[in-house]
Formats: sequence, C-alpha cells, structure tokens
Amino acid sequence: MKKNLALITIIVPLLFLFSCKKEKKENPTTASVSIDSLLTLRYQQLLSYQVDSMSFPRSYNKNKSETFKVLSKDWTSGFFPGNLWQLYKLTGNEAYKTQAEAWTVHMEKEKLNGGTHDMGFKIYCSFGEGYEITNNEHYKEVMIESANTLITRFNKNVGSLRSWDFNKDIWEFPVIIDNMMNLELLFEATKMTGDSTYHNIAVTHANTTLKNHFRQNNSSYHVVVYDTITGDAKDKVTHQGINDDSSWARGQGWGIYGYTMSYRYTKDPAYLKQAEASAEFYLNHEKLPEDGIPFWDFDDPATDKPRDVSAATVIASALLELATYSSNSEKYIAYADKVIGTLKSEEYLVDPSINAPFILDHSTGNWPKKDEMDEPIVYGDYYFLEALLRKSNQ
Ligand code: GLY
Repeated sequence: MKKNLALITIIVPLLFLFSCKKEKKENPTTASVSIDSLLTLRYQQLLSYQVDSMSFPRSYNKNKSETFKVLSKDWTSGFFPGNLWQLYKLTGNEAYKTQAEAWTVHMEKEKLNGGTHDMGFKIYCSFGEGYEITNNEHYKEVMIESANTLITRFNKNVGSLRSWDFNKDIWEFPVIIDNMMNLELLFEATKMTGDSTYHNIAVTHANTTLKNHFRQNNSSYHVVVYDTITGDAKDKVTHQGINDDSSWARGQGWGIYGYTMSYRYTKDPAYLKQAEASAEFYLNHEKLPEDGIPFWDFDDPATDKPRDVSAATVIASALLELATYSSNSEKYIAYADKVIGTLKSEEYLVDPSINAPFILDHSTGNWPKKDEMDEPIVYGDYYFLEALLRKSNQ
C-alpha cells in the first residue's frame, strides 16, 4: 500500500508535468498557469523524500543522477527542514509541517557541536523556523543551547567568532563573510533569555567584520585571517572565489544579508550603510546579467562560467528586507521581483526526470573544487522560499 502510494506521488505529478510542458508549447498564453503548476509539483517532490536522520538532501551526486545526501553535521543540513517549514507557511498544507517536524528532530544533536560556526545556518533554519510557527518550548531550549555552544568560538582578542578549524597551519584564526549569517541565532537567544551576552558577541563580531572584510568599493573579501594575540587582520584571501581579490557572488550575498539582519536587531546606522553600499556594488555591477542571476564570481573571465542561483536568492531575500529600512526600496524590490520572475521558468526549475527534492537548478557551490557546479543546491531553494514569503507579506 505504502509502495503504491509512493509510486502514485511520483508518477501522477510527472504525467501532469509532461502534459503541462506540451500545453505550454502549443499555447503560450497558458505559460504562467503552467509555471505555477510546475512550481507546485517541485514543492510536492520535497514531501515524497523519505525522512532519514542520516540523509539530509544537499544537491546532486557526482553523476547528477540522484540526490547527494549529508549528515546533520554538514553546514547545509538545516535548510531542508527549513524549506518544509517555509512551504507550510506558504501553502498552509499540514503535510509540510508534519515532515518539517520529523526532519527537525534529527537536527537536535547539533546543538552540542562546537566544531563549527555554522550553528546559525543549521539550527536557526530548522528549529528557528519551527519555533516561529509552533512556539514549541523545546525548540526554544535547543536554540539557546546551540547559542551557548556557538559563543565558545568567540575570541576576545580578535573580537570575532572563529569560522573554520581546518587549515590551522596556514590560517591562525579565519573568519569568513558567511559567518555574519550565524549572528541571527545569537540575537534571538538574547531576545529569548534576556541575557545580553549573545547580543554583545554578535555586535562585536559584526563590528570586527565591518572593519576588515570590505574593500573600498564595498565588495567583500571571503576570508580574513586574524592574529589571536594582537587581534590584527593579517591576511585577506579567498576559499571559494576565483582569486583573493575577486568578488565571489554568494559572499556578496552573505554580506548584504548579514548587515541587513544585524540592522534589524540593533538599528545601528553603520550596518544599514554597509548593507546599502554592498547592495549598490552588486546591483550596479557591469557583469550582473540582465536576468538578475549572477555568475558564480564577478571576476571569472571565462565565457562559459556557471551562474549561481543561490547568490541571487540570498540577495533577493535580503533586499526585500532592506527595502523596509532604506530609501532605495524601489530598486531593491525591482531586483527581487526580477529574480523571482526569472527563476519561475522552465530554464531554472529542476529537471523533473531526476527524482530529487529540490526546486531550483543552476546554483554553484564550490567552483575552485569543481564541486556542486551549476546544479540544484538546498540553500538556493531556502532563500527563494524566504523571498516568496517576504513578497507575500509586503
Ligand atoms: N558557507 C559556505 C558557502 O556559502 O558555500
């Protein structure tokens, strides 16, 4: 019975999908209806992915023929439960909530994992999303414990949370721009407990990053390496960009999003100024394609370089929030609308013949390692859904 149901969930949407595609070619006026149906079918694909504590979906495998799965310790694990929570918010369909709860349970052990700065990505996107919807006290406790674990990575001399533990022989104390995203968990922990420790650490980290991570033109470096005795920034390099001085697209996104979110909790005008300045750098860049989806790195000279949908969705979502604080709101909303419009197209929706729980194609994870090149990645979907929700609340 279960097997039959599973077959029906896979085959019926596929049949519908092929009929939609055919219909679109024959009658272009039905295109928008068809695209929304295609989108809904992609959402449903997330529901039929079986809950398994050891198999959080992240992207495609090397052959691009099935899902690449990771353990909860991976930095991307929280996004899949987050996608289900957000789909529940978007659709009101209880089935998404049930699945979201089931996946979120398997994230809990990460609250004690002090070996990573990615606690915010993992716990805020799963338990945080869930807490907003359910007010479940246990979720709140997990978030506070996770924040306690995260602040063990704070170094007073540097004024930052340490990002990575690898490459210790080369990087004494690396901090990456992505780390700004983990501050949301700390700001929330102070709101939940009344203890200002978390908030103060988040502000100190944001101030140190503000001082050292941005270039004159307001693009950002990826990795800043600090001296743990003097606290000085001694090196500014890349790990996922094409070179140390390049503008890696998703890194620009983490900066814009990170300072917009930090402004939400602090109202510090310096954060708003940085978010706006970095948004200007990005939106005015001569190499930003007309359809709004950036290449993976602005400085890759290749003609056949891949796009990075995840950078576009992170920035679209961030700009929808920034629009609520800034006098440049029209420009920000226009970009977000363009990205959403571009992505709601057959070109960008995942290939339905691969049974994988993703919505959008064409993200690029780690170009220097030739890993996750031009394929669906779970966080591209997360920020897309967040942008849709922000749009619907406008
Ligand atoms: N935090 C890693 C990345 O953006 O790929």
